[in-house]
Amino acid sequence: MNESRETRIPLADLAEEVREQWDALSRAVLDVLRSGCFVLGPNVQGLEQEAAAYLGVKRCVGVASGTDALIIALRAFGVGPGDEVITTPFTFIATAESVSRVGATPVFVDIEPDSFNIDVNRIEAAITPRTKAIIPVHLFGLACGIGAVMEIASRHGLKVLEDAAQAFGGSSKGRKLGSIGDAGAFSFFPSKNLGGWGDGGLISTNDDGVADAALVLRDHGSRRRYYHDVFGYNSRLDEVQAAFLRVKLPLIDRRNQARREAAARYDRLIAERAGGRIVAPPCPDPAEHVYHQYTVRIPGGRRDRVRQRLSEAGIETAIYYPVPIHRQVIYDLPAGSCPNAEAAAAEVLSLPMWPGITAEQQERVVSVMCEAL
Ligand SMILES: Cc1ncc(COP(=O)(O)O)c(C=O)c1O
Repeated sequence: MNESRETRIPLADLAEEVREQWDALSRAVLDVLRSGCFVLGPNVQGLEQEAAAYLGVKRCVGVASGTDALIIALRAFGVGPGDEVITTPFTFIATAESVSRVGATPVFVDIEPDSFNIDVNRIEAAITPRTKAIIPVHLFGLACGIGAVMEIASRHGLKVLEDAAQAFGGSSKGRKLGSIGDAGAFSFFPSKNLGGWGDGGLISTNDDGVADAALVLRDHGSRRRYYHDVFGYNSRLDEVQAAFLRVKLPLIDRRNQARREAAARYDRLIAERAGGRIVAPPCPDPAEHVYHQYTVRIPGGRRDRVRQRLSEAGIETAIYYPVPIHRQVIYDLPAGSCPNAEAAAAEVLSLPMWPGITAEQQERVVSVMCEAL
């Protein structure tokens, strides 16, 4: 069906903030062009300091992507071949891929059915003498049970790397996500709630040893130019990304708040109109969620039909994630080994969500869904 541009509703309008901040963003980018300093310069340093102050951590290290933030943090912890790392199967591939890329083995612990986050009550049973670390993910911007994860880790002498790629500015009991574990990993991929104009990432930590190791690893394992102590990476953050993100960082609280307001509107519309056929995402404390995604469950085998109907009406949605990681061919664990993740994969649907989405657009999304049901 052909819908006019006006009635099309995207999954997210990434250009909205650029339009709003055009003068400041273009000035920041042009200043970098004029400076002639393009990689790991004053803007990267400035972003690292400003992000550390915002998150309430001692140090931040800018890297080339969220995936590299995970890989480099694991290497900085000393995780490598022969080690096991406990994580969730219901996340973007990069979470587990980073474990495999450092030569360790991801061990998947099923999720809670309602929050989509790792079920902390199942973590201890997965710990073996080879376990070195846990990577909990704050999926869709909602904190996992990070307090319980920290307690388990400290009882067993494990490191915790928070995958906060989808949760910049989110918090748990007043503490910013990414500041609670031994390190946090953030992604600045453009669609993230704090996004650059290309790839970028950040490691946050209170541990100088981790930060110092990350600085070396991101630049070919070099402490002194052309002297290489360990095998590292080319994972330098560039100045244009950093300058762009420094304009956006001071706006993140306001934009996360707008997402919360949009989420509350979806919650209301679904409660009023869907009669239990659509399950809204849980939110123990709405002030702490950043709603990187607003992801509902549509049980009873009806998710794909609803999605098709939305698509015909010009409404873009996404399925995060259609195949849980333990079922990807690269891991190929048996069906049924993480049943909650497998059930979620068959029922989840992420609805249009960005800070500027209008009440009318949200009403239309929910109306079309209810019609389809
Ligand atoms: C949960 C999670 N972890 C890690 C990443 C990897 O980040 P990037 O795409 O910047 O490498 C992403 C981004 O898609 C993500 O959603």
